[in-house]
Amino acid sequence: MYDIIVKKRDGGELTKEEIYFFVDGYTKGDIPDYQASALTMAIYFQGMTQEETATLTQAMVDSGETIDLSAIKGHKVDKHSTGGVGDKVTFIVGPLVASVGVPVAKMSGRGLGHTGGTLDKLESIKGLEIEMTKDQFIHNVNTHKLAVAGQTGNLAPADKKLYALRDVTGTVDSLPLIAGSIMSKKLASGADGIVLDVKTGSGAFMKTLEDSKNLAQEMVNIGNNLGRQTVAVISDMNQPLGFEVGNANEIKEAAEILQGKNVEDLRELSLELASHMTVLAEVFTSYEEAYEALAKNLENGKAFQSLRNLVEAQNGDVSMIDNLDNLPKAKYKIDVKAEKSGYVAAIDAESIGIAAMYLGAGRATKDDEINHGVGITLNKKIGDWVEEGEALVVLQSDDEDSQASITKVLDAYSIAEEKVEKPTLIYTVIK
Ligand code: URA
Repeated sequence: MYDIIVKKRDGGELTKEEIYFFVDGYTKGDIPDYQASALTMAIYFQGMTQEETATLTQAMVDSGETIDLSAIKGHKVDKHSTGGVGDKVTFIVGPLVASVGVPVAKMSGRGLGHTGGTLDKLESIKGLEIEMTKDQFIHNVNTHKLAVAGQTGNLAPADKKLYALRDVTGTVDSLPLIAGSIMSKKLASGADGIVLDVKTGSGAFMKTLEDSKNLAQEMVNIGNNLGRQTVAVISDMNQPLGFEVGNANEIKEAAEILQGKNVEDLRELSLELASHMTVLAEVFTSYEEAYEALAKNLENGKAFQSLRNLVEAQNGDVSMIDNLDNLPKAKYKIDVKAEKSGYVAAIDAESIGIAAMYLGAGRATKDDEINHGVGITLNKKIGDWVEEGEALVVLQSDDEDSQASITKVLDAYSIAEEKVEKPTLIYTVIK
């Protein structure tokens, strides 16, 4: 291990044997944390070649179980977002893609900190179960083309251990390490094709377009190197996506899009990602053809029917999405009013996420309970005019006071005198 650290420190390229020696030894506990931290720091400064990154990713996949989706008929395509506030795209894209016959076998996690988790949001629907046997999961995907389950099995344990170490040793922000970490989990969950939604902007992991492009390119290279077709869409996270943040709030907004409502940024991004997924699955031959067919399924109710099928198959109360007023609700509605007139120039997405977390929509620590009915509705987004005293957002809260959230929301909004353009939604696509 000493030789491997010194080789990387001095800018050398690690061999497959050396990378596997490290990943296997660290996972088993034979290599101590101090040597693993020295190597990750050396990687942080020296980087990795494309081949080294692909090998590291494969070694992390091989450190644990992989999910075998071969019992599911058809070309399986997965979607992954690098994380954002108000990102309920999975609940739109999953049913939408399933509605044209592409199987979606989605394994998701819970939320921590300012971004919510897919499973927590789904559990806003009474009775909906996310734990199921592998056979049930595969049966549901074969029958309805769609299932969402909690992650089972021991996927990429090397990544779990390394990520925890990177978190406390200043080595999270390394492109090959982030790309390898995300892709190892995606590859272990078995899809044939992967569409990545790489967020960019103030509320994203990567704040600049250049860093986001580099991360996207790195992940696409890994996927393609390891035999999975991978496409990355770089999309905006300079403000929350759509108007709703929270659990029931986000399910409601996603269901509305599936019922044909046009919330511009959310509908556009969903159609963009779903189009790439269905082209990868070879159901359509071009992006344009896919987009047109998918947009039609938003209007004609087929995509919404796919969501109903999912809820029913996972024992959820369908009446909650048929009539969205039946979703859990908070006790109070509190307007957070603008302190001056002007144009909304910026909305710090992370602060909005934290304000929602303070209300109980998210977890500050792993063991916190989620309150599904609380959340935030944005009335104003970047470029909108607001009058002094007008509500910027409405909090749905069980606490009449909610001062910490109000302060956080007011901090999140910047109001300017000059007109501000709406941010670009989709910057580029990397294949
Ligand atoms: N998310 C991950 O899963 N891994 C990283 O390294 C960073 C973000």
